[in-house]
Amino acid sequence: MTTTRQMTCDDLLRFNNVNLDQYTETYHQGFYLQYLAQWPEYFAVNDSPDGRMMGYVMGKVEGKHKNWHGHVSAVTVAPEARRLGLAGRLMTYLENVSDDIHHGYFVDLYVRISNDVAVTMYRKLGYIIYRQIIGYYSGKEVREKRRERKKRKKKKIIENETLIFFFFYSHSHSHSHVLLLLFLLLFALFFRMLLI
Ligand SMILES: CC(C)(COP(=O)(O)OP(=O)(O)OC[C@H]1O[C@@H](n2cnc3c(N)ncnc32)[C@H](O)[C@@H]1OP(=O)(O)O)[C@@H](O)C(=O)NCCC(=O)NCCS
Repeated sequence: MTTTRQMTCDDLLRFNNVNLDQYTETYHQGFYLQYLAQWPEYFAVNDSPDGRMMGYVMGKVEGKHKNWHGHVSAVTVAPEARRLGLAGRLMTYLENVSDDIHHGYFVDLYVRISNDVAVTMYRKLGYIIYRQIIGYYSGKEVREKRRERKKRKKKKIIENETLIFFFFYSHSHSHSHVLLLLFLLLFALFFRMLLI
């Protein structure tokens, strides 16, 4: 049994059991503190009955006008607490914050294409692929590799370094946005087929 509560600064000293995972990014303390200071409502954690951290979600709100949206910066669950529905619950928490408090138009997030478990989870939660980004984790190389891909049409680069950018519209907004999104998705697929 567990309840979801807001993250505190002290939690940053006890999240090693959750963060020691190849798919969980560990940032410097200033990064987490900025989130806690700016978007505390987006930072939630679950503890087990013995006080051990089970998982957390961290996010923010950003964008302008119709692009005003919630963003999932991290969602991660300790190995011993997985497959209990915790990540799904943390995602619902963040979506509710985006919807109810900030009235965001959608929630987005990035996930490595190789992270099968997370990709499956996001699909199940209703997220759809918006676009794929090459070299997200290698800084400046991102753009260069993109150009390289267009010039030389190297499919391998895409598979190795692509991230999927998931996009989830909140229920409260118009269906026309979803149709527009589907159209954009089809257009992107067509465009990609031309490049490969
Ligand atoms: C991805 C992660 C957060 C899932 O956490 P979780 O609490 O185990 O997920 P849930 O129990 O809420 O599962 C939700 C759904 O995801 C899918 N899923 C979760 N674990 C899965 C697994 N091992 N194999 C296949 N599908 C899985 C299932 O569809 C599941 O629904 P179901 O149990 O009703 O079938 C967790 O594995 C994790 O922390 N991974 C490392 C960090 C990470 O990858 N974060 C995401 C980065 S973008």
